[in-house]
Amino acid sequence: MRDYKRLLLSNKAWAEELKDENPKFFSRQAGGQSPAFLWIGCSDSRVSPEQMTMTQPGGMFIHRNIANLVYEDDLNLMSVLQYAVMALKVKHVIVCGHYGCGGIRAAMEGGVDGSVDRWLENARAVRHAHAEELLAVNEPDARLSRLVELNVRDQLVRLARTPTVQTAFHSGQPLHLHGWVYDIRDGHIKPLLDLDADSSIEDLGVPASVL
Ligand code: CO
Repeated sequence: MRDYKRLLLSNKAWAEELKDENPKFFSRQAGGQSPAFLWIGCSDSRVSPEQMTMTQPGGMFIHRNIANLVYEDDLNLMSVLQYAVMALKVKHVIVCGHYGCGGIRAAMEGGVDGSVDRWLENARAVRHAHAEELLAVNEPDARLSRLVELNVRDQLVRLARTPTVQTAFHSGQPLHLHGWVYDIRDGHIKPLLDLDADSSIEDLGVPASVL
């Protein structure tokens, strides 16, 4: 069977199963959404935010890009963030990277060109900003994993500095930011850091060159 036809058949089975379990499921969905979470993750096919957190449709607003990067001039992400925080009033924004990330590997080793190369600019900035720490890690895989973690932390701080998040923080809207790393080797998520309105971003030691 053609691969894409399998998707359509699977969809049919999924919709019927959900309806069997809960006849009101789809009529409730049509009534609107009020997710508690905004997920910002990597586009990698092995990292499925809803599946790995057992979240049903309606539970999570999602944005994904290569290497889960935050650019303040990314109209796509900034719109998603604005809508999720200001209109949907999500309580948590999660930036989730993953070990073995091809985007982060390319930021470390090169080997890409065109759009992908341009897109990874900020991941390279993270790498340059932490060059000393990374060089001290001898084992290449461990060094890559460390860059994945540093990238999540630095992107989370970049997120905290966006006008949307700053406005929410200053107005007292409940909003918490979380930096996580997903381990594709065992399926577990490792929490790295949390930020909220009371956090002192300056104390985290994120170099000015990546902000
Ligand atoms: Co990735």
